[in-house]
Amino acid sequence: MSKAAFTSDSLESTFLAYTRVLSQYREYWDFLPFAQFDSGWSEPKVAHAMAQLTETDIEHFERDATALYQQMVVLFPEVKMLPVPELRTQTRPEVPFWLHTGIGGRKLTQIQAFVATLPTHATHSPQHENVLEWCAGKGYLGRFLAFTRNSCVTSVEIEARLCEQGLAAAQKFSLSQRFLRANVLSESATIPFSMNDRAVALHACGGLHTTLMTESVAHAIQAVHIAPCCYHLHGEGQYRPMSHVGRANDLGLSREALKFSVQGMVTGGDRIARLRQQELSWRLSYDSWRQVHTKDHLYRPLPSAPKSLFQGDFATFAQWAAQQHGLTIADTEQWQPYLAQGHKLSVQVRRIELIRHVFRRVLETWLVLDRALYLHEAGYKVQVELFCDYQVTPRNMMIHAHYLS
Ligand SMILES: C[S@@+](CC[C@H](N)C(=O)[O-])C[C@H]1O[C@@H](n2cnc3c(N)ncnc32)[C@H](O)[C@@H]1O
Repeated sequence: MSKAAFTSDSLESTFLAYTRVLSQYREYWDFLPFAQFDSGWSEPKVAHAMAQLTETDIEHFERDATALYQQMVVLFPEVKMLPVPELRTQTRPEVPFWLHTGIGGRKLTQIQAFVATLPTHATHSPQHENVLEWCAGKGYLGRFLAFTRNSCVTSVEIEARLCEQGLAAAQKFSLSQRFLRANVLSESATIPFSMNDRAVALHACGGLHTTLMTESVAHAIQAVHIAPCCYHLHGEGQYRPMSHVGRANDLGLSREALKFSVQGMVTGGDRIARLRQQELSWRLSYDSWRQVHTKDHLYRPLPSAPKSLFQGDFATFAQWAAQQHGLTIADTEQWQPYLAQGHKLSVQVRRIELIRHVFRRVLETWLVLDRALYLHEAGYKVQVELFCDYQVTPRNMMIHAHYLS
């Protein structure tokens, strides 16, 4: 695993290396969770390593994605060889406390880091830079750009309430930031693309940031900086790569795979983690019972259930689950063997999920590289890097693109 600046020169070869790895190891990441209990892994060393993991090990790795990656990646040398985007050392802009009133700690760090990765622009430059802030929320990022770079910011946001709050703050601080209430997916005609030198998007989901990319290309915006997220929120059906290289090397990603690309393993504290384990184990216990009683040996999913159901007793949960499948349960049912089977299966599912997670970041990087290549193919000089630590936000990749006119 070597840290590298992903630049226009290396984007295609890096993307192809990622494509090869994802194709080679597809069996380890491209499946529906819960639907697979028998790993059937083709590599005996992987099966062996996973069988050695105790429940305590599993719990440890579920909580520490870095430790998991370091331990497991040795099983997949080709993953280890992939270059990964680097985090540049940054000097974060100093700002007075009043500028970030109301901005939470992590969001503040993200914004400061985002601003720090932008190419320098003299604060007192006679020429004001016009910046379009995409899906701005309350326009925090735009607020920082207006203050630290003296930019004239147009913050586009669909929610009128957020626009009003953002504007009130901008006026209070006498900043050159205006708000435009618009749906970026359907009201692009109202958005002043051509008046802007730079477009920025922090965590605009799926189709929102891809729309910024296509619009930026259409209007030849000089510079675009995007920290993408939520790749699964992109419209209907399978993922259609944006770049020509991506289309020629299409992985045929399902929505499930896209969702997986941004899924954390365990979020929340001990209580939440225990509840999640209980839920998994109970769902599988119930399904073991259902399979015996219906002789249908395929896993049948259940709808999502209120968390409170997993805090009571198993029999109540099983009644609820059977109702969903139109089945009845005898009052005399003995649950112990099913609970034991469910627990065993849940440990196996968690093992499979651990291995799957080794590939999560690989998949996310592939999606970012496809976006970067799209801009490169449209005539931009592109760079992909990390703008902050993973702990600040797991969506910490950033695409910088400058139009080569
Ligand atoms: C995840 S938030 C990010 C907000 C902000 N960029 C930040 O990082 O704090 C996404 C924002 O996009 C806005 N949004 C969602 N759909 C939109 C659309 N179709 N047009 C414009 N804004 C939209 C949401 O209201 C929300 O404020």
